[in-house]
Amino acid sequence: MILQTVRLSKNFAGLVALSNVDLTVAQGEIFGIAGPNGAGKSTLFNVIAGTFPPSTGEIFFAGHNITRLKSHQICHLGLGRTFQIPATFPTLSVYDNLRVGAVFGSGSVRGLTNHRAVAEQIRKTLSFLDLTACQDQPATNLDIYSMKLVMLGSILCTDCQVIMLDEPLAGLSILEIRSFLDLIRRINQEMGITVIIIEHLLDMLIEISQRMMILHNGKIIFLGEPEAVRETEEVINVYLGTEE
Ligand SMILES: Nc1ncnc2c1ncn2[C@@H]1O[C@H](COP(=O)(O)OP(=O)(O)O)[C@@H](O)[C@H]1O
Ligand SMILES: [Mg+2]
Repeated sequence: MILQTVRLSKNFAGLVALSNVDLTVAQGEIFGIAGPNGAGKSTLFNVIAGTFPPSTGEIFFAGHNITRLKSHQICHLGLGRTFQIPATFPTLSVYDNLRVGAVFGSGSVRGLTNHRAVAEQIRKTLSFLDLTACQDQPATNLDIYSMKLVMLGSILCTDCQVIMLDEPLAGLSILEIRSFLDLIRRINQEMGITVIIIEHLLDMLIEISQRMMILHNGKIIFLGEPEAVRETEEVINVYLGTEE
């Protein structure tokens, strides 16, 4: 197992956003997370990634207790994440957005220090994401799909072992969704990166995940094989029943 949370809870001024979440993610798997709006999905990523500390509970990553570490320390250990709203450096070029990841990520800690190694990491990632042709454009010029690729590229350049994706398919066309799912599979299979993905589109999540979790009001209401999701009564009631 590469990531584990133990009785993880987060309160915001009386609001219980996460309640005693026990989660284990195995090395190499694609783990899917779904749940209605406000279920606590993004909060789970924020707490794991060190954006803010949990109220109670513990988080372990790759043999380290990361519960009280800062987000940059967690990134250096090899845990990367993307945001629900594409976050790029708009005035920087596509190339420099990836360079930020390469220079500040875990690669820099694990010896990716010389210019040639950094340049090679960026070149490989640009080529993998099919971004080479637009590497000199400012990120702000890009369409939403390419912007998502740049955010992903920057994380991949950190040399992460686990990547957490927060609703990466939101706002994409069906063709773009297909390509993005393909990329996620290749990141998992070819790069050996463990993927944890939050996704609102349940069909897509069931298709891509090896195991799934459904959150509702900060609690786990389903954990298991994707095929079983649709047969779980609580899920049908609270999630499928409220899906737009
Ligand atoms: N930084 C924050 N401050 C206060 N409340 C928050 C904060 N982040 C999330 N919440 C609240 O926590 C609950 C869970 O939110 P969130 O994790 O964003 O849900 P999801 O991603 O599943 O839609 C919501 O009620 C939300 O309003
Ligand atoms: Mg969210």
